[in-house]
Amino acid sequence: QTLQLPVDDFVDNSENYTQAVDLLEKGEVVAFPTETVYGLGAVATDEKAVKKIFDAKGRPSDNPLIVHIGTAEEISLYTSYIPEVAKICMEAFWPGPLTIVMQAKPNVLAPSVTAGLDTVGIRMPNHPVALKLLQTLKAPLAAPSANRSGKPSPTKADHVFEDLQGIIPCILDGGMTGIGVESTVLDVTLDTPVILRPGGVTKEMLEAVIGPVVEPSIEQQKIESTPKAPGMKYTHYAPNAPVYLIDADKETIENALGQLKSEHKVALLAPESFKDIQADYYFSFGEAHNLEQMSATLYDALRACDKTDATIILATATTKSGVGTAIMNRLEKAAGGNWYTL
Ligand code: TXA
Ligand code: MG
Repeated sequence: QTLQLPVDDFVDNSENYTQAVDLLEKGEVVAFPTETVYGLGAVATDEKAVKKIFDAKGRPSDNPLIVHIGTAEEISLYTSYIPEVAKICMEAFWPGPLTIVMQAKPNVLAPSVTAGLDTVGIRMPNHPVALKLLQTLKAPLAAPSANRSGKPSPTKADHVFEDLQGIIPCILDGGMTGIGVESTVLDVTLDTPVILRPGGVTKEMLEAVIGPVVEPSIEQQKIESTPKAPGMKYTHYAPNAPVYLIDADKETIENALGQLKSEHKVALLAPESFKDIQADYYFSFGEAHNLEQMSATLYDALRACDKTDATIILATATTKSGVGTAIMNRLEKAAGGNWYTL
């Protein structure tokens, strides 16, 4: 039985936090909201508890977990060396959607957290529920996204429930997350910092405070035989029906639908302004050109497709600047790089 405990600012939910903390202290896993996506947490120094995360998600054991902390100072407990660029980034972007990969302090965290690497990814989330949970628990939480492996990350407690009901004991329900795509992962162990996964903190934002940052394209990441972010080698975010990217242009979409309709049930994921186009299913990306709305609705829209009998999904592309980089990274993965060509 999976408990769903509401946590919001309007009522006193302290008992629900107490329950979640008790479970975590007993070595259980608990799902909780962050400003990016829901995480599935376990005390990061408890190997048995951390193993439960991998089991619940069906996650390969060589893919390391992010460690979440409730205060920035704690970072020195888990890292052996904090480069100057990391200090600047923490100052500028924490709490927030930036995971910083640094040298791990040996023998402190549960071995499964780092999956055998000598580095660890750490972030201080910017969500009142996540922060209150961490600060009450007074321990770090190892937490990947709270989805089954291969599903889009959860942006609502209901998504977590769909994937993990009966498998995990507790979900803290803090409503919809804000950003909707996972944190930026920045490796600062190299001379020039490398973005291993684009997210809410963009390359432009990072370069404004620490200078040049490398951001390999998906193609470049694939060519490297041993990806730096182990997560890169796994397929992600793919709904049941194949996804194709398409230009956000009315005529292009209408022509595509004209070709597909006789043989397919088509789900269209597109901005509000395209809602009158006659697809079998339509899910909104929010206002046209509003990247924040698009990232916030992306995973919910992809998940919604799985509840339909659509046999093909068309998703409109967007600019690759700002948060658009993270959005297109996730969409390109969902589409396996495929564009719909007329
Ligand atoms: O926004 C987020 O980051 C969410 C919330 C819950 O915080 N978490 C999340 O975790 O997306 P997960 O496990 O789904 O993705 C973590 C990514 C993986 O691609 C993993 O390979 C990479 O971070 N990663 C973790 N530790 C790493 C390390 N030491 N070196 C390189 N990559 C690492
Ligand atoms: Mg994930």
